[in-house]
Amino acid sequence: MRTLGFDNGDQMPILGLGTWKAEPNDVYAAVKAAIGMGYRHIDCSPLYGNEPEIGQALAECFDEGIVQREDMWITSKLWNDSHAPDDVQPALERTLAALRLDYLDLYLIHWPIAFNKGVAFPESGADYIALDELPISETWEGMEGAHRMGLCRHLGVSNFSLVKTKSLLDTADVKPEVNQIELHPYLQQPELVDFCQSRGVHVTAYSSLGSLDRPDELKGEAEPVLLDDPTVGAIADRLGARPAQVLLAWAIGRNIAVIPKSVNPTRMDQNLAAVDALLSHEDMEAITALDRGRRYVAGDFFTWGGSPYTLANIWDE
Ligand code: A2P
Repeated sequence: MRTLGFDNGDQMPILGLGTWKAEPNDVYAAVKAAIGMGYRHIDCSPLYGNEPEIGQALAECFDEGIVQREDMWITSKLWNDSHAPDDVQPALERTLAALRLDYLDLYLIHWPIAFNKGVAFPESGADYIALDELPISETWEGMEGAHRMGLCRHLGVSNFSLVKTKSLLDTADVKPEVNQIELHPYLQQPELVDFCQSRGVHVTAYSSLGSLDRPDELKGEAEPVLLDDPTVGAIADRLGARPAQVLLAWAIGRNIAVIPKSVNPTRMDQNLAAVDALLSHEDMEAITALDRGRRYVAGDFFTWGGSPYTLANIWDE
């Protein structure tokens, strides 16, 4: 498996299993099947509501000797209601207990957005805390504390714009080493990717297949379906590959990690095989020409009803 390397010598497998939208009763079997077929990287979050089932699958794989803990890369994320520095370590400990682990390989700030403690999802403007009141630099001190305690080996962020990534790099003692962002041919974010990669911050793509299974309230009208893109389809047909494999190979070809979600073993296997697919320069360029700045996870659900957050201040665009 190709990997992305870290300063301390650790290696993150460039393809992992995404678990957003994987139902708790599906994810247990999916994680066991994934590990059985060679996946060594699982991407999690408490928000996905399935960490206990992932933890059970991991524990069984370790107990049965199918894989060793040190050969797995497990990522999880800090939810928006635990941004206060003193809340970070307890939140990470809850995730570790659910996943039945002693440490994470990577812990990310899930969004540059803060809620009051205990708010899973805001119902009114009063549930939010503006970043002026609770800046990312303070949350990062909590992240660094958890890192010092050995609860996670690496720290990172998710959904961070170029402006926010830069400002965190300027102040952090422990450097963010990953930015997990929405990234696919319709949303390529070349400046952000170039900046991160030039500063030693790995990029992980989420929604690299277009997240067609996300909830209806997160969908716009007449959205373009990435997996049905004719250019991607023509390349796939010519190579005898699946459109999903072409999408993943394109990202991997740019040294971007991918975490496609699937709970179907046939599709999980297809996605894993994409690591070995190589696209020609011409095919890479043809896909790069598809950029249209189209977010599937726009973040507008954080901007309603008196929220201090706007699309402009989330994405700094
Ligand atoms: P399923 O879980 O039934 O396999 P993303 O990773 O962009 O969020 O996309 C996840 C969606 O893509 C899910 O609906 C998932 O369905 C589907 N999917 C995952 N792998 C493939 C594949 N190889 N071919 C087609 N669809 C896929």
